[in-house]
Amino acid sequence: LALDSFFLEKLKQDAAVAEAAEFLQKGEVVGLPTETVYGLAADALNPKAVRKIFQAKGRPQDNPLIVHIAKKIQLQQLINEDISEKAEKLMSKFWPGPLTIIFSKNKIVPSETSAGLETIAVRMPAHPLILAVIEKTGLPLAAPSANTSGFPSPTRARHVYNDLKGKIPLILDGGSCQVGVESTVIDIRSKQVKVLRPGGISREELSQYLGEEVILASDLKDKKVLSPGMKYRHYAPQKKLYIFNFTDKNYVLKQALKKAEIKKVAIITARESKFEAEELADKKIEILKVFSHDQPEELAQKLFHLLRKLDADDSIAEIYIEELNSEGIAEAVMNRVYKAAAAEKYSQPGGGDN
Ligand code: TXA
Ligand code: MG
Repeated sequence: LALDSFFLEKLKQDAAVAEAAEFLQKGEVVGLPTETVYGLAADALNPKAVRKIFQAKGRPQDNPLIVHIAKKIQLQQLINEDISEKAEKLMSKFWPGPLTIIFSKNKIVPSETSAGLETIAVRMPAHPLILAVIEKTGLPLAAPSANTSGFPSPTRARHVYNDLKGKIPLILDGGSCQVGVESTVIDIRSKQVKVLRPGGISREELSQYLGEEVILASDLKDKKVLSPGMKYRHYAPQKKLYIFNFTDKNYVLKQALKKAEIKKVAIITARESKFEAEELADKKIEILKVFSHDQPEELAQKLFHLLRKLDADDSIAEIYIEELNSEGIAEAVMNRVYKAAAAEKYSQPGGGDN
C-alpha cells in the first residue's frame, strides 16, 4: 500500500508538472514553490509572458526579475560574459539554493525581464517542483515572489491563491517553503562582493567561504548600486506593525495595552519570559513565542505566514515584533521587518530605509 501511494503521488506530481509546463510554453504565468518563497513564473525570454507577471502582481515596471535555471548550462544563453572564477566557486557551493548572482545580460533576454537594465539576476532554486518544471520546459523562468506587490511574500500555496486567484491559471502546491525569506542577491562584478538584498544565505557565510569581506550595499553612500526593488515599501501587512526591543519594553507595553482595551495585540518575541505574568493578566495581549534567539531561521521560516495570519485575524488590532541583532539570517529577517514596518519603529523613530 505504501508503495502504491508513493506511485500515485509521483503520478499526480508528474501530471501537475506537465500541466504547469504546458501553460508556461503557451506564454502563461504559473505559481510555483521554491525553497525560499513561492514564485510567479513565466518564460524569461518571452516579453509578452513576462508582462503578465507584472500585471498579475501589480509590480512597478522598473523592478527587474530573477531568472531561474535548473542546470548550469542554461546560464550561457542568458549572459554576455565569461563566467568568473568567483562565480564558479559560488555556484558550485550554493546552487541549487537561495543565492542570486548578477551577470551582464545577453541580448536575447528581453528588457521586460531585466526592467531595462544591462544586467540579469540568475539563480538555481532548490525545490524539486520548480526544478522539474524548468527541466520539462527547457525554459529559463523569470519569477518574482508570487504575492500582490507590497504584500508579505507567499510561503504557502494558499498565500498565492489568496493574492492572485482569478488572475493566474495554475498554482502548484509544494508545501510550506523551508527558508521562508527570499534569496540573497549579490553583485560580484567589481572587486568587492556586495549584497544587494540580504536573504537565505547570510553575509557571514559568503564571506567565510570566499575568505574576504562581503559588504551590504545599503551601507554604501551610493544607493544606486542597490537592487531596484529595495526602494519600495514591501512585505507589509495591512495592520500596523511595530518593532520593539527590550529597552523600550515598558513603553511598548503601555502602547500595546492602550490598544488592547479595544482588541487584542500580538507580540512576536523570542523572550516570552521577559513579559511578567501580572503585566499581562487579564490583558488582551497575545504573546507569540515562535523562535528562539539562537534559531533565527525559525522566525525566517514563519515570518511571512505569521504576518498574513495575524493580518487576517479580526480579533488582533496591531502587531509588535522584537528586534533582532542583524547577524546571520537575522539580517534578512530584519531587512524584511524594517520594510514591512516602514516608519513604525519604536526604538528608532522614522526607521526603515525607504
Ligand atoms: O528567493 C527569491 O529570490 C524569490 C524566489 C521566487 O526565487 N524571488 C524573488 O523575486 O524574491 P523578487 O522579484 O520578489 O525580487 C527580486 C529582487 C528585487 O529586489 C530586484 O530588484 C532584484 O532582485 N534584482 C533583479 N534583477 C536585478 C538586477 N539585474 N540588478 C540588481 N537587482 C536585481
Ligand atoms: Mg518580492
